[in-house]
Amino acid sequence: MAYTIDWSGDPAVVLIDQTALPQREEYLRCETVPELIAAIRRLAVRGAPALGVAGALGVALAMRTSADPAADIAALRAARPTAVNLAWGVDRAAALVPGGSDAVLAEALAIRDEDVASSASMAAYGSELVTELVGGDPVLLTHCNTGGLACVTGGTALGVAIALHRAGRLREVIASETRPLLQGARLTAWELGRAGVPYRIAADGAGPSLMARGLVDAVIVGADRICANGDVVNKIGTYAHALGAARAGIPFLVVAPESTVDPRTACGADVHIEDRPGAEVLELAGSPIAPAGSVAVNPAFDVTPADLVTAIVTDRRVIQLSRGGNLPGVPLGRLR
Ligand code: MRU
Repeated sequence: MAYTIDWSGDPAVVLIDQTALPQREEYLRCETVPELIAAIRRLAVRGAPALGVAGALGVALAMRTSADPAADIAALRAARPTAVNLAWGVDRAAALVPGGSDAVLAEALAIRDEDVASSASMAAYGSELVTELVGGDPVLLTHCNTGGLACVTGGTALGVAIALHRAGRLREVIASETRPLLQGARLTAWELGRAGVPYRIAADGAGPSLMARGLVDAVIVGADRICANGDVVNKIGTYAHALGAARAGIPFLVVAPESTVDPRTACGADVHIEDRPGAEVLELAGSPIAPAGSVAVNPAFDVTPADLVTAIVTDRRVIQLSRGGNLPGVPLGRLR
């Protein structure tokens, strides 16, 4: 299958099961909305843009298979709270419900196709920006997974890194492992390896120190929600990398489609941060790593304040947020 997530006319939503990677490349068929919701909750499909497409295709599935489509659509919309793309994708497709199931499916497929195009635009804008900011041979540090697995194909921040590699303008990617579920070590490394991009994996806590030692030229990450004031909500651990980048004086870049920009949320403090099961922290690959009876705290996301963000790259614009002066040579957009 070329895409991370797609429609199958049977009907079903088909997706690569990201929990099996990198050991096994397996595909999952979700033939009902509850099956799709379960896949979203256990992160078989994950990453903000992919969740937007999952939401839209899920509404199409509800129209064809649900006894109570409205209830299934509401449950799908609430499957994960933080990435605004899920609710965005559900709402866009659900707006077509009065037109019937074919109209809903057409909208969902349009959202899928727009995601493919948006990855290409972000790669073009982002790669130009990175080269202008830090030159043609950079080491980029990234966090979590923002490649084709997090979208339909292509990617956001990782799509930029892969585009730079293809243009001969990248030395290396450092992928932080991204505890507790290891999206960096498992998924980003898998995608970089397949693309032939040189990479190394670092423990999450190593990032700021690598930056302080001058071993990283820029940090580049995705986002689950970008608030009206420019605060960026992304995978837990992003904030520490942003602090490290600010202290080291290197750019901290956020790459995300317009569907991740949420003008209705004023700032990061207003975002519902998903708390996930403690077992994700207390176990590794199903084996306990902490003393019996330990209790975990497991927020899945954090907020990076806008003043730590150098620029946001979307599929339509580059928005400069901090560090004074205009970024050279890029079309500047405004957040609002
Ligand atoms: O919990 P996840 O794996 O869905 O979290 C994903 C992230 O935080 C990504 O960085 C974000 O969605 C951007 S993906 C292009």
